[in-house]
Amino acid sequence: MEELHQDISDVILTEEEIREVVSRVGAEISADYAGKNPLIVAVLRGAFIFTADLMRAITVPCSVDFMAVSSYGDSVKSSGVVRIVKDLDTKVEGRHVIIAEDILDSGLTLSYLIKLLRARRPASIEVATFAVKDIQGKEPAIEPRYVGTHVPNEFIVGYGLDYAERYRNLPYIGVLKPEAYV
Ligand code: IMP
Ligand code: MG
Repeated sequence: MEELHQDISDVILTEEEIREVVSRVGAEISADYAGKNPLIVAVLRGAFIFTADLMRAITVPCSVDFMAVSSYGDSVKSSGVVRIVKDLDTKVEGRHVIIAEDILDSGLTLSYLIKLLRARRPASIEVATFAVKDIQGKEPAIEPRYVGTHVPNEFIVGYGLDYAERYRNLPYIGVLKPEAYV
């Protein structure tokens, strides 16, 4: 882990802070979905760690399935053009769907996913995002029902978030040192 730590300049959220955020979101969802058996749709790969923690913070019956999307272009900026790499195995029709996402930046990825899943006629569809990036004067393309926390407009890694597929295993969220970009 030391090898990873030394590439981080600032810690944005500690493990303890992450735990508090996730348990609060889990409690909100548990209250809203009593008796509804929601289907949690985790957006791979970034959301897999948040989803695992979130599910354990949800106290009502729920199920999980996974979708993988990949945006074209470079790994630091979202292009908004999304390709489905892995689709759900679960039927969405009539289900209460909660899309779990790691971070909402432009919102273009989620806006595409929502459109796609809506066409499958779920009973309802909402978004639970661990973080929303605060961008001055810019509203994200979608409005998530559940927001864990707000983060500054910087490229962050850890807790599932990667740079070039690295740092997902950092247990906290931090900012990469400029020299860590290759
Ligand atoms: P959006 O379509 O602009 O909302 O981009 C969302 C996706 O971009 C997330 O699911 C992440 O995979 C990725 N992303 C956005 N910001 C960051 C970041 O700061 N670190 C790592 N990945 C990010
Ligand atoms: Mg991602």
